[in-house]
Amino acid sequence: MTDVIFGVDYYPEHWSPERWPIDARLMQQAGINTVRLAEFAWSRLEPREGTFDFSWLDEAIEIFMAHGIRIVLGTPTAAPPAWLIQAHPEILPVNEAGQRAGFGMRRHYCPTQPTFHAATQRIVEAMAEHYHQHPAVFAWQIDNELGNISNGNRCHCPSCHAAFQQWLQRRYGSLTRLNQDWGTVFWSQEYTAWEQIPIPLQNVRSWVPGSAHNPSLYLDFARFTSESWERYQHFQMQILRAHCPQHLITHNLMGLFPYVDYVALAEELDVVSWDNYPRMPTSRNASQGNWSPSRVAMAHDLMRSLKGRTFWVMEQQGGPSGWGSLSPTPLPGELRLWTLQAIAHGAEAIVYFRWRTSRMGTEQYWHGILPHDGTPRRRYAEIRQTGEELQRLGALVTTSLSAEVAILRSYDVLWAFEAQPTSESLSYDDQIGRYYRALWRRNVTVDLVTEKRPWTSYKVLVAPCLFVLSDEVAAQLRSWVEAGGTLVLTFRSGVKNEQNVVVDLPLPGALCELAGVHVTDYTVLLSPEAGPPSGGPASLELSIDGTSHLLSTDVWMDELEVSDAEVLGRYCGGPFAGTPAITMKRVGAGRVIYVGTSLDDAGQDLLIGKVLSEAGVTPGIPSPDNVEIVHRVYENVDHWFILNYGTQSQEVRLPTGGIELLTGKVTSETVTVNALDALVVRSQPDA
Ligand code: GAL
Ligand code: ZN
Repeated sequence: MTDVIFGVDYYPEHWSPERWPIDARLMQQAGINTVRLAEFAWSRLEPREGTFDFSWLDEAIEIFMAHGIRIVLGTPTAAPPAWLIQAHPEILPVNEAGQRAGFGMRRHYCPTQPTFHAATQRIVEAMAEHYHQHPAVFAWQIDNELGNISNGNRCHCPSCHAAFQQWLQRRYGSLTRLNQDWGTVFWSQEYTAWEQIPIPLQNVRSWVPGSAHNPSLYLDFARFTSESWERYQHFQMQILRAHCPQHLITHNLMGLFPYVDYVALAEELDVVSWDNYPRMPTSRNASQGNWSPSRVAMAHDLMRSLKGRTFWVMEQQGGPSGWGSLSPTPLPGELRLWTLQAIAHGAEAIVYFRWRTSRMGTEQYWHGILPHDGTPRRRYAEIRQTGEELQRLGALVTTSLSAEVAILRSYDVLWAFEAQPTSESLSYDDQIGRYYRALWRRNVTVDLVTEKRPWTSYKVLVAPCLFVLSDEVAAQLRSWVEAGGTLVLTFRSGVKNEQNVVVDLPLPGALCELAGVHVTDYTVLLSPEAGPPSGGPASLELSIDGTSHLLSTDVWMDELEVSDAEVLGRYCGGPFAGTPAITMKRVGAGRVIYVGTSLDDAGQDLLIGKVLSEAGVTPGIPSPDNVEIVHRVYENVDHWFILNYGTQSQEVRLPTGGIELLTGKVTSETVTVNALDALVVRSQPDA
């Protein structure tokens, strides 16, 4: 199929069959060519154990097929039905507080529970057998948003506990080794039998955020649970592959969601898809203004980087969202703008959540394209226009992006900081976001990688707070820098080995020599509201190419001793006044920048400017605040997506004139982009 996949999530089981053809016709008129179905419909597909009913779904699919619409089928395992839970209450997960979930939500299952695997096999196999040759079905979505459980972040049930102990046995081989690697002599925690090893329930007392369990145990448990989801996905995958080898298989991920290693989860999938809600009731982040487009851009870039290729958006926000309370409605133009942002960052499919707003159930406030009453109004008109426009972009949409800069976002680091948040002012994703934002504001394309994804092809690798670091990764970093890479390191790097034990070296541990500095002291900087002594914020003087700038710093300060590096910045105040704060060392053909503190947007921008020019990265096209420009190359021709998130119209100056593809109009080098509008310009120097 050459059309861009343009779809909606639809739940025929929520509406009477008389409505289905009306919806299908409205969809067809709006250019919808794909629907995702059946995602939570287990109780209708298997009303009693082993009794299946596909008749209603067949009928719905027939109707869509008659309207030229193709089908992505969801396996319904995120919503185990009441009869299954009644027969097997052990399926219900146990949260970190040790409480067993009750029936009443979704995702109320444990991923390691054998009775749940048996039930999964029954329903997935029956669906796969029934639909393997259906002409309208072309893809599957496994489950829904694997990762958390209905009442918490991870399952702590007896089945998971036993599986965790076995996992440890395989990983460490002997208790002697585990005891040594974890340092269990601390507080007499030495284990003499595998069964003694606890699961990190919150039944130990912590008087500060984080966990009071041994951090080594905690990190291994996070790795184990992440792998449990991988294994559960693989379990479904095998069944689908065996019956439907010609179908694509995906799973809908959640962007920056921290509890599953998405690189590992994505590995087996044919394509990554994800659920993009730019205006979630919970994603308001005061420090970044309201809902921030750079945060959404970063999530898209992470999703694209998982497989290093274009991805799908399986749920694109279709209206105001919320369960108990709502987010403000998308402004006129925003659904289209968010769609084009996704496409700009590498989405090759857009599926809106959801077609029509549900009248019942928990998500009555989670609005779809159609309102509760089913009448097509503003949002319908907007997506119809958007769909038409997307088809004009054609195969540009399926070409991938190429980045010269990557940011390292490590799951081990996320989980180690979960156990030890380190400071109330430190958030790993905030630190990553500060670097990302500086790059985004300069319209430089960024990939997000982990230690495990190949990153050696980039010119620049920014690795904020590389808290957990193996010797192997340290060695890879060194040889990549020597060969010409530009590495940005920050405070809290090289602190822990892979067992989450602090290294027996000055910091940044295995990276000291590479960075040419070592840390002689450090302090957290709390927000001034914490009252004295908060430590901060403080300031530093950064000198770039002979000009010095006074910057403010927060979160953290390393006191550095320089053995072999150029000093770019020094603290002007605080306990380490006068000592180096930011350094650069040339190593072989490359360089390492060490940043001992955390900078605000202005400082971050200066620093990133320096890094990019040192590394010879192609500069992005400058744009005013709130305007993003994404560069794409298709048919060897430059294309620019110009996205204005602000409420004022703005001008940008492109390297050449061109054709605006959504309208077909010829543009000069200077183009005006209206408030909440998006343009896609194909370069045409003689236009
Ligand atoms: C997503 C989920 C959808 C729907 C939506 C609104 O995370 O995949 O099924 O629940 O959120 O809550
Ligand atoms: Zn469990």
